[in-house]
Amino acid sequence: APQMLPVRLTVNGTAHDLTLDTRTTLLDALREHLDLNGSKKGCDHGQCGACTVLIDGRRINSCLTLAAMHEGDAITTIEGLGTEEQLHPLQAAFLHHDGFQCGYCTPGQICSSVGMLSEAKAGWPSHVTEDLVGKADFTDAEIRERMSGNLCRCSAYPNIVAAIREVADSSAGTEL
Ligand code: FES
Ligand code: FES
Repeated sequence: APQMLPVRLTVNGTAHDLTLDTRTTLLDALREHLDLNGSKKGCDHGQCGACTVLIDGRRINSCLTLAAMHEGDAITTIEGLGTEEQLHPLQAAFLHHDGFQCGYCTPGQICSSVGMLSEAKAGWPSHVTEDLVGKADFTDAEIRERMSGNLCRCSAYPNIVAAIREVADSSAGTEL
């Protein structure tokens, strides 16, 4: 029998008290228990990045982590990044550069790129090489490498890179 436990998840600034099977992934908690369907289930195995969300500002594949591990964390999904009146700069840039076709990968691409730009600025994680720390002027190849966990079946990569570049170039030193 499944083991159930109470879990309080704070998503986009709102606390939710849930009762979850201990094995429920964060992705399933978001989609099935909180009706936040922006995060997509592409592979459910950590291979595609469609499920990427931010935990305390760091990007994570929500299909690979258990919801119960994230009590007390600040979880941000695509639904929490902007509003229709005030898009997040990366949402605006993806629109401006046609950074999507079917749109399936887009929430994950945008959450991942928000996390990626702040990693780069903060010098986190440690595998980021010294010469890139704090620099926003990536080459396109660097952006693709840092975004390699996010697949796009429509191959919108050139436009995705262009969108991220626009924000990287314009936001050096600012908070995303
Ligand atoms: Fe999580 Fe593919 S659904 S990485
Ligand atoms: Fe279709 Fe990326 S826009 S999968």
